[in-house]
Amino acid sequence: MSSTDNQENEENQGIQHSAVHSAGEAGSVKASDLTIEEQASLTSGSDAWHLTPVKRVGLEGFMITDGPHGLRKAEGLIDHPNTVPATCFPPAAAMASSWNPEVARKTGVAMGEECRQEKVAVILGPGVNIKRNPLDGRSFEFWSEDPFLAGHEAIGIVEGVQSQGIGTSLKHFTANNQETDRFQIDERISERALREIYLPAFEHIVKTCEPWTMMCAYNKINGHYSSENKWLLTDVLRKEWGFASIIMSDWGAVHDRVASINAGLNLEMPPSNTDNQVVEAVRMGKISAGQLEKMAQGMIELIEKVRPAMQTDFTYDVDAHDEVAYEAALESIVLLKNESNLLPLQAEGEQTYAFIGGFARTPRYQGGGSSHINPTKVTSVLQALGLEKNAELKKRVEFAPGFTLDNEPQSQELTDQALEAAKKHDIVVLFLGLPDIDESEGYDRTTLAIPAKQVELLKQVSAVNKNTVVVLSNGSVVDLREVKEHAQAIVETWLMGQAGGRAVVDTLVGRSNPSGRLAETFPLRLQDVPNYETWPGGEHVTEYSDGIYVGYRHYDTVGAPVAFPFGFGLSYTSFAYENVKAELTSPRTARVELDVHNTGERDGADVVELFVCPPSDCAVDRPVHELKGFAKVFVKAGESKHVVIDLDERSFAYWSEVRHDWHVQAGTYQLEVARSSRDVVVTLPVDIADDDKSMPLDEMNSLAEWIRDSHAYELYLKNGGKPFDVDVDDKAQEMFTAMPFANAVGFTQDATSREAMYQAVEQLKAERQ
Ligand code: BGC
Repeated sequence: MSSTDNQENEENQGIQHSAVHSAGEAGSVKASDLTIEEQASLTSGSDAWHLTPVKRVGLEGFMITDGPHGLRKAEGLIDHPNTVPATCFPPAAAMASSWNPEVARKTGVAMGEECRQEKVAVILGPGVNIKRNPLDGRSFEFWSEDPFLAGHEAIGIVEGVQSQGIGTSLKHFTANNQETDRFQIDERISERALREIYLPAFEHIVKTCEPWTMMCAYNKINGHYSSENKWLLTDVLRKEWGFASIIMSDWGAVHDRVASINAGLNLEMPPSNTDNQVVEAVRMGKISAGQLEKMAQGMIELIEKVRPAMQTDFTYDVDAHDEVAYEAALESIVLLKNESNLLPLQAEGEQTYAFIGGFARTPRYQGGGSSHINPTKVTSVLQALGLEKNAELKKRVEFAPGFTLDNEPQSQELTDQALEAAKKHDIVVLFLGLPDIDESEGYDRTTLAIPAKQVELLKQVSAVNKNTVVVLSNGSVVDLREVKEHAQAIVETWLMGQAGGRAVVDTLVGRSNPSGRLAETFPLRLQDVPNYETWPGGEHVTEYSDGIYVGYRHYDTVGAPVAFPFGFGLSYTSFAYENVKAELTSPRTARVELDVHNTGERDGADVVELFVCPPSDCAVDRPVHELKGFAKVFVKAGESKHVVIDLDERSFAYWSEVRHDWHVQAGTYQLEVARSSRDVVVTLPVDIADDDKSMPLDEMNSLAEWIRDSHAYELYLKNGGKPFDVDVDDKAQEMFTAMPFANAVGFTQDATSREAMYQAVEQLKAERQ
């Protein structure tokens, strides 16, 4: 970290400290000092974007607004085309490819500053929902198909924003994985899938740096709306994870004020004018006075926490923030293919280029819906090239629009013009992507296809000039089979935010070395997606048929071919992993160390990915491997950097449905040091000890399970049960050892053994409850 960073950090910390200090000061308002009506009023907004003030005691109605990749401060109420200009940072789909939480943290600081200037107390984001299916219309707003990566990157946004004394709202809690029927859909999800896939990103952020607010999702989970789901909001979030801040609804997600307050929801947004129902429910005893007071107290604490930032004037530096957006975009670009080192292009030299495709002139840099930002400025690729100012370069670069983004058939004139340019120049840089209308909140996509006329143009262009580079603009995964076949180089830029044009140009010409890695798999076909048959469901129900096998967890476990695997990304330099070693740091934690050696000729950053493979004799089915650590390091050409990655106990655990708890099974786990989920460089074994969390056992568990559970079997014997002379590891005896213990004991026809078994069952119940 540079000294400027340190300084900036300390300044940021200053804000945070004063915020915390002020909230804790004596004389803070207590919910118990308010009337029931006042308490109820705090649990809903005063309009679409404001908290309700209680002027009598000096509680202000501060503004809260979107998020998540920039400030979207509406000038009107719900349907508000006019929002104040703000920096549009790269949406999460791009930023996730940076594999660099520091990029997110710096972005968060900048967003926090913009909130301070605009007097916005809470910015609604980040959204860490899992990319379960690439057709999800909001895929561009979310981070990854992997919960570890999503949680460990998005945390940077929370830390950065909150360092400015501004709150975040981690959303949408939980499993908001489709737009189709999002207001009503009942998602049938196993607890294991929730715990291993849909909750951990939230859990990590909540436990590591508490977000000042959480936003519940619209959807139901196993029959209960998230806003009324006591198990989710109170039992898991508050009691298990220790979340002490406030939970708000998504906009319009509350259907029953009373049920939502009882479930632990502090704030309904926007208001539905039903505070009287809350007051009435308290009078009727349907909400306890204590529960309403608790919900209102949370709101008071939030207001007090954000007050210092709201009361201090601040002006942010528009250009400096554009620079933050540029740097984030740079780290997010993923180089997917680079045959014969076609890239980088020559910033200076003789080579000439045809830049084809309207995206170079009019960039697609964000998606549609509530995250849509009114940018402070936008730099296109053509502007970033600076052709107007550089006469030499102007001679070497020709632009052709190539196609339109509407549904009209391809214009022959545009094709001819593109082919003409393609023939004339050494290299073609063809900009392809999805039209705006394809990616938005509110609806899902129906296909992975890039518009057919664009693909057709690629085929024709590459037929006349095989030196074709494709630059992609898309907020979610697309079908790349034909692009892969016809392009010599592919640059995935996602949606880059307002400064993307500069980042793309600097990457194309090698001023910056690409270091992004895919945060999601590019499957070959839609049919390969693990929930293809059941997504997005029907008649208001969707079955999470894929369980824990989301993304690479499925593709890698079944060995399905993919277009580009999770974690994949090329560089203009090369890296070697040296002195790789793994050691236990405790019976159930480990450390991996290695030196990353830049063996090429250019400086660049590498991402070390660490996957954990379960032992071969797993008690339950598990994916072949799961990401449990990563580190991004910048290494100068010819130099090495030491990398240390620690694995905690959770890295080895699975969610045990019978134990209702995480469980680490003893065994040899393989640690894979990798460049992608399909490119494992070194595999190292570690022997992990059992956490001795016993399984509940009763008479219907098998004889083998009783004998393997030495403590349970011992109890049975001590109680006078007859021993069994069997070998539970002998396949030939499985027919007998697999039968319920009650049957095996019954066969002995021994009343004492039967009694001993029932006593042992009771003793175990008492011990293991
Ligand atoms: C979205 C949220 C957003 C809210 C406020 C909802 O429709 O799902 O992500 O924060 O609107 O605009």
